[in-house]
Amino acid sequence: MKAVHVLNGPNLNLLGTREPETYGHATLADIEAGLAARCKPRGLILYFRQSNHEGDLVTWVQDAGRASEPVILNAGAYSHTSIALHDAIKAVKADVIEVHLSNIHARESFRHRSLISPVARGVILGFGALSYDLALEALLAQAEAAGKPGPA
Ligand code: DQA
Repeated sequence: MKAVHVLNGPNLNLLGTREPETYGHATLADIEAGLAARCKPRGLILYFRQSNHEGDLVTWVQDAGRASEPVILNAGAYSHTSIALHDAIKAVKADVIEVHLSNIHARESFRHRSLISPVARGVILGFGALSYDLALEALLAQAEAAGKPGPA
């Protein structure tokens, strides 16, 4: 495992000021910095992106798949609606870990269903910014267990 793609969907650019009682006070830049600090000593390249547009996320999943590189995906509200993202994940070989800051099952019923979950390698949710760190550690542990440790 040489690189990891962390993809963020709509409204996640507003983290820090967006409903902090639900999503916490960390900004997206804080989350990126935390992940970068974990990736750097392991020699892992971090591609960290955010878009409010569904098609961008689809394209980035395809790009990661083409490179056979894993993805940590917080698709935001598109998690609950996007057949296009479901199909993209299904179409690529790369592992996709779905993450959410909040516990979507403890919230409004329209958030209980994720179209990403059935095609994700795994799902981590409810731990705030830590959900991203846990997803990265899961990918690394999995790669190590498969006898493919990172370069460091
Ligand atoms: C979210 C949960 C989604 O329901 C919501 O639309 C988001 C953020 C989370 O990280 O908790 O935008 O994905």
